[in-house]
Amino acid sequence: MEENVFETIAKKYDSTERIELANIIAHKVREELAQAKEKTLIDYGSGTGLIGLQIADSVKNAILVDSSENMVEIINDKVAASNIQNVQTFVADFTKDTMDIKADIVLVSLVLLHIPDTKIILEKLYKTLQTDGKLIIIDFDKNPNVYHPKVHNGFVADELKALLTSTGFKSTNIQQFHHGEKVFMKQDATLFIAVSKK
Ligand SMILES: C[S@@+](CC[C@H](N)C(=O)[O-])C[C@H]1O[C@@H](n2cnc3c(N)ncnc32)[C@H](O)[C@@H]1O
Repeated sequence: MEENVFETIAKKYDSTERIELANIIAHKVREELAQAKEKTLIDYGSGTGLIGLQIADSVKNAILVDSSENMVEIINDKVAASNIQNVQTFVADFTKDTMDIKADIVLVSLVLLHIPDTKIILEKLYKTLQTDGKLIIIDFDKNPNVYHPKVHNGFVADELKALLTSTGFKSTNIQQFHHGEKVFMKQDATLFIAVSKK
């Protein structure tokens, strides 16, 4: 079976650089959670929970989902060592597994670039959202300097917006919010937030 790189790096995932970037992302995502105190949020591809655990206090329930068992194990350890009461975790890959969970908000931060078929995962996340739900995508702008056979080298805003519209989302607003040095496969890159309404 093919090795999952995230299983291998899970234990050393929380580097200073990744924590810094996650804090910038969490700060931006919080702006979208101003009225979410009674809502359920899924952080899809949550990694070690650097963002999901940080924003859990802005929602009623936070469900952290990742396809890597080792990543989820680290979240579980963090939750056990904290006072956080409203977090559930699952190991799942929605491109293959069917899970009977629904959310008002789905966050996908730095995950879309790792999933080969963007259309399929957007369709699955669309189905996971309640009517009037909100999808929040954080990812990198397309960067021709990045090349990796298994990773999208970012996204073009207009193309992603068209894909979200064809998936069924009523509206999408995309905004760049951070430019960082060496943050995307050792290349400088711009982060965007795309907020889509179902
Ligand atoms: C770069 S990390 C991002 C972690 C976190 N969202 C953040 O922004 O800090 C990507 C995560 O997506 C997960 N992942 C990759 N493909 C996935 C899939 N098809 N379904 C669920 N999780 C996936 C990986 O296991 C990894 O934990």
